[in-house]
Amino acid sequence: MKAVGDAEQIAERRGIKVVLRLPAEPCVAEFDTRRINRILRNLIVNAIEHSEGRDVVVAAAGDRDSVAVAVRDFGVGLKEGEEHLCFDRFWRADPARVRTTGGTGLGLAIAKEDAQLHGGWLQAWGMPGQGSQFRLSLPRRSGAELRGSPLPLVPPEIALGRNFAAYGDRDNGGANERSDRSDHDDELADPGGEDT
Ligand SMILES: Nc1ncnc2c1ncn2[C@@H]1O[C@H](COP(=O)(O)OP(=O)(O)O)[C@@H](O)[C@H]1O
Ligand SMILES: [Mg+2]
Repeated sequence: MKAVGDAEQIAERRGIKVVLRLPAEPCVAEFDTRRINRILRNLIVNAIEHSEGRDVVVAAAGDRDSVAVAVRDFGVGLKEGEEHLCFDRFWRADPARVRTTGGTGLGLAIAKEDAQLHGGWLQAWGMPGQGSQFRLSLPRRSGAELRGSPLPLVPPEIALGRNFAAYGDRDNGGANERSDRSDHDDELADPGGEDT
C-alpha cells in the first residue's frame, strides 16, 4: 500500500509503527489510485499525529460489492460530535496543537468530498482516550451504489464492550438513549446514512 509507505517516515520519526492488516486476497476496486492514496495518506498521517506515540493499525477488507480501509489509532480520540465536525472545512479540535505536518484543517474535508465523488463513504469514529478510526468504503465497480462496508466503523473491541447496553437500547426503541455515545448505535446499523 503506497500510502503507508509515504507515511512511514513521519511515523518513524516518532517511533511509531504503522501495522498493516490485509486480507489474503487483494482488494480490488475501480478507483483512481492516486486519489485513494491521497485519502489514505491523509488518514494515516492524521492517525500518527494524534496517536500519542502508539502504533497505528491499517486494515483492509473486501466483500462482493465493496472494499474498505480502516485507519485506527489509540490516541486522543474524538469527543462526541467531532466524528462529524472533523470533516468540516478548517475545523480543528485544537488549533494550537504542536505538529510537524499537516495543519490546514482541510485534509479531511477534501478527502470526504473525494470519497463521495467516487460513490464512497468516509466516516469517523472516536472516543476520548480510546483513539479514533477513520473508514473509507468504496464500491468495487465505479458508479455502483454502496450499500454497506466490509469493515465495521466502530472497532469490534469497543462495540463488544458495550454490547449489552446497545441491545437494551434497541429493545425499547431507543427510548432511553444514553448520553454516552449512543449515536454510534446508528452508525452500526446504517454505515453511510448521512452521506448526501
Ligand atoms: N486520528 C485522529 N484523532 C483525533 N482527531 C483527529 C484525527 N484525525 C483528525 N482529527 C481532528 O480533525 C481535525 C481536522 O483534520 P484535517 O482535516 O486532516 O486537518 P489538519 O490535520 O490539517 O488539522 C484535526 O485538526 C483533528 O482535530
Ligand atoms: Mg490532516
